[in-house]
Amino acid sequence: MIHCVCRSINTRLVDEAAAHGARSPACVMKYCGKRFNCGQCIPSIAERLECVVGTSTGTSPASLSRRDEIAGDIPLAAE
Ligand code: FES
Repeated sequence: MIHCVCRSINTRLVDEAAAHGARSPACVMKYCGKRFNCGQCIPSIAERLECVVGTSTGTSPASLSRRDEIAGDIPLAAE
């Protein structure tokens, strides 16, 4: 399944990032060497991380906002 259409990040990549310690969508992007574009994938990646890691990533996917996620350490490509 594709989670991020803009950056072609699929379930395998999210799982691989999680296995290497990624615990947030921003960490998954960083692991993949990519940057968010539109940010629409954040809830989907967060949901997959919760499935893989087995614990909450700190925020429910539904409550994640693009700004909340991006405010961390990874700037948007368009900014
Ligand atoms: S779908 Fe992931 S940045 Fe657009």
